[in-house]
Amino acid sequence: MTNQSVTEDVVREALRPVQDPELNRSIVDLGMVRSIGIALPHVTVAIDLTIAGCPLRAEIDRRVRDAVVALDGVDDMTLEFGVMTDEQRETLRRQLHGDPGATAGSQPGHGHAEGRAIPFADADNRTRVLLVASGKGGVGKSSVTTNLAVALAARGKKVAVVDADVWGFSIPRMLGVNRPPVVIDEMIVPPESHGVRCISMGFFVDENQPVIWRGPMLHKALEQFLTDVYWDEPDFLIVDLPPGTGDIALSLSQFLPRSELLVVTTPQPAAQKVAQRAAYMAHKVHITVSGVIENMSWFTGDDGKRYELFGAGGGQTLADELEVPLLAQIPLVAKLREGGDTGMPIAIDTESEAGAVFAALAETVDVDLAPKKRYRSELKIN
Ligand SMILES: Nc1ncnc2c1ncn2[C@@H]1O[C@H](COP(=O)(O)OP(=O)(O)O)[C@@H](O)[C@H]1O
Ligand SMILES: [Mg+2]
Repeated sequence: MTNQSVTEDVVREALRPVQDPELNRSIVDLGMVRSIGIALPHVTVAIDLTIAGCPLRAEIDRRVRDAVVALDGVDDMTLEFGVMTDEQRETLRRQLHGDPGATAGSQPGHGHAEGRAIPFADADNRTRVLLVASGKGGVGKSSVTTNLAVALAARGKKVAVVDADVWGFSIPRMLGVNRPPVVIDEMIVPPESHGVRCISMGFFVDENQPVIWRGPMLHKALEQFLTDVYWDEPDFLIVDLPPGTGDIALSLSQFLPRSELLVVTTPQPAAQKVAQRAAYMAHKVHITVSGVIENMSWFTGDDGKRYELFGAGGGQTLADELEVPLLAQIPLVAKLREGGDTGMPIAIDTESEAGAVFAALAETVDVDLAPKKRYRSELKIN
């Protein structure tokens, strides 16, 4: 190849595989490449970022340079950054997320919004929705949500997490998310960490201000988490529910009728009774209970012995009563808590005792619990 062969088209094609790190689409297809100038061996590329102060600008810079400098005949390049116009953003949003119903731009909580449909409610939608519930707080629901999400992502799955614990949100911290969502023309692009995207009330409220929203507003907020967020068809949407069986669980059962419920409990008989209530409530609203996860099952001492600090058998008993499988028993390990505090979920370390349990749980959920309903409905058609 001679230098002469590097044309604007050649550079454009070299840039086509370069993805925007946030939207995971080609920067060419997204309309981010504003211009290409050729003065061999020098090339100038101008990129329009989706928003000013784009947190991933450095990453885009690196990707574009790598792609262009790799071309035969190009020695050096100048990269100029600009920002999309409102119109460009609108085009991009429409391209990725379509148009809402009649009331685009209407205020949340106002009126009979004919807004977007919830994609996950659609019978044909391929995303598996897992609701993680427990009767009471502190049993490890958020830890299970976070680590199961990371373990599923490690299996190559596209995973999204909705932190629906609006009062006690903890997913951003546990997942190590260090930036808020980006908003492109009212489309909310969730941040990603350890391969998992998440949205949380924590991004929208002041940590020092208690959330005192009433039922209808929470209902609306949760709906927006499902409609206005660009989830991009994940394999799994995992929802960390608030403890108990309140309004939020009811709202979600309406929004997400195809959900599978995972009940988290500890080995204590008392905890198991409370967890049972969450399961009964699921039955009432016609949500399938898929299994029980027992957390804090034992502590392995330096002597290698297992100490059952919270008793034994609670998870299995609950599973038997609900006639569902006991999906996992998660040991009590200091590193699990530390990982939650530092944003480095234990599931990353698949060699660790708890990490291996989460990897096995992810496999069980992904493979053994893979929906049979769909096969059934396919059979009907045949
Ligand atoms: N298996 C475990 N081993 C050690 N600490 C745990 C374990 N599960 C949860 N924790 C810790 O217990 C606390 C409560 O867990 P969390 O996941 O926030 O519960 P919930 O969401 O049900 O309120 C957190 O500090 C968490 O790090
Ligand atoms: Mg929690």
